[in-house]
Amino acid sequence: MKTLEIKLAYRIILVLVAILAILSIIRGLIIEVEIKELYNQVSELRRHIMVVRMAVPSLRNLAEKCGIYIGVAVERSLLDISDYAYTVKQEFNILTTENALKFGLVHPELDVYSFDDADHIVSFAESNGMKVRGHTLVWHQQLPTWITQGRYTREELMNILREHIMTVVGRYRGRIYAWDVVNEAINDDGTLRDTIWLRTIGPEYIELAFRWAHEADPQALLFYNDYGAEGLNTKSNAVYNLVKSLIEKGVPIHGVGLQMHISLENPPNPQEVAANIRRLNELGLEVHITEMDVRIRMPARWDDLIRQAEIYREIIKVCLSAKNCKAFVMWGFTDRYSWIPSHFSGYGAALIFDESYRPKPAYYYIAAAFIEHLTKDNKD
Ligand code: G3I
Repeated sequence: MKTLEIKLAYRIILVLVAILAILSIIRGLIIEVEIKELYNQVSELRRHIMVVRMAVPSLRNLAEKCGIYIGVAVERSLLDISDYAYTVKQEFNILTTENALKFGLVHPELDVYSFDDADHIVSFAESNGMKVRGHTLVWHQQLPTWITQGRYTREELMNILREHIMTVVGRYRGRIYAWDVVNEAINDDGTLRDTIWLRTIGPEYIELAFRWAHEADPQALLFYNDYGAEGLNTKSNAVYNLVKSLIEKGVPIHGVGLQMHISLENPPNPQEVAANIRRLNELGLEVHITEMDVRIRMPARWDDLIRQAEIYREIIKVCLSAKNCKAFVMWGFTDRYSWIPSHFSGYGAALIFDESYRPKPAYYYIAAAFIEHLTKDNKD
C-alpha cells in the first residue's frame, strides 16, 4: 500500500514537472515572439525617425530662412573630431569661441599672445560660411596670473587692457562679426561686480573697453554679455540702465547678450524675456541669446527631455518674434562635451544632441518653431 502511494506521488510529481516544463517552454516561445515583435516595432520607429530627420532641413537652413543666426560655442580641439565638425557645419551658421579668446588663453604672458586656437576656429567658420562671435575681452575669470598678481597702477592696467583689446580685436578686424566686449560685470543685486578691472581702473573700464574695441574694428558689433538677466529682475534692470547710460554717453555699443544658462526647474518667464528684449530694442540695441543650455538633474527621464524641448522652443519663439533678436547661440550642442557636469554636480544632458550626436526632442522642437514661424511670419 505504502509503495503504491509512493509510486502515485512520484508519478504526480513527474506529471507536474512535465507540465511545468511544457509551460516554461510555451512561455519562452511567447517571450521570444514578444521580443521579436518589440524589436520590429523599435526598428520601425527608427525608420520613422530617420524619415522625419531627413525631412527636417538642418537648423542652419531653417534659421537662414527666418533671417537669424543659429550657433554654438566651440573648442578648437573638438573641431578635429569628424562627427563634431560635421554636425557643426551642417547645423549652425555662427560660432562662438568658448575659451580660445579669453584673456588667460590668448594672452598668457605680458608679451606673449597665443592665437593658434582662435585662428583655427575663425578659419573653420570662414571656410564654412559662418559668422564668429568673439568671447570675451573683459572678464573677471580665466585671467592670467601676470594680471591677477601684477599689482599694476590704474594707468598701467588701462594701458595693458587697451593694448590687449587693440591687439586681439585688431587681429580679427573685419572677420569677427560680434564681440562680447564686457562679460558678467554686474552682480545679482544690480551693483557692479568687484573685479580687478573695477578696483584698479574704476567703473570707466566698461566704456573704455567698448571705445577701444570700436577703434580696433569699427565694423564689429559690440555686446555687453551676462547671465541671470534674461527676464525682468534687479539684474536685468541694472544691465538695462548700464547700456542706456553708455548709449547716452555716445559709447559704441550695439547689443546685449542674454546668456540663458538655465535649469529645468527654474527657466525664465518667456513673456518677461520678450519684454526685456523689447525694451532693449527701444534703445536701438540688438539682442543675441549667447550661451543657452538647459541643465537637467541626472538621470534625465523622457519627460525631462520633453520639458527641456519646450523651454528651448519657448526661447527660440521669443527670439523669432523680436526683430532685434538676431542670433540664438547654445553653449555647445552635444551632451558629450558640455561644461555642465563638471560645474554643476548631478546635472547634465543640457544640450540638443545626445552624447552620440543624435538629435534630442529639443532639436525637433526648435526646428518645428522655425517651420511654424516660416509658415505664419509673426515678427513684430
Ligand atoms: O586650460 C586648462 C588646461 O590646461 C587644463 O589641462 C584643464 C584641466 O582641467 O583645464 C583647462 O582649463 C579649463 C578651461 O575651461 C579650458 O578648457 C578650466 O579648468 C575650466 O574651468 C574652464 O571652464 C570654462 C569656464 O567658462 C570657466 O569659467 C568652460 O569651459 C566654459 O564653458 C565656461 O564658459 C563660461 C563663459 O565663458 C561665460 N559665461 C558662463 C560660461 C559657463 O561658465
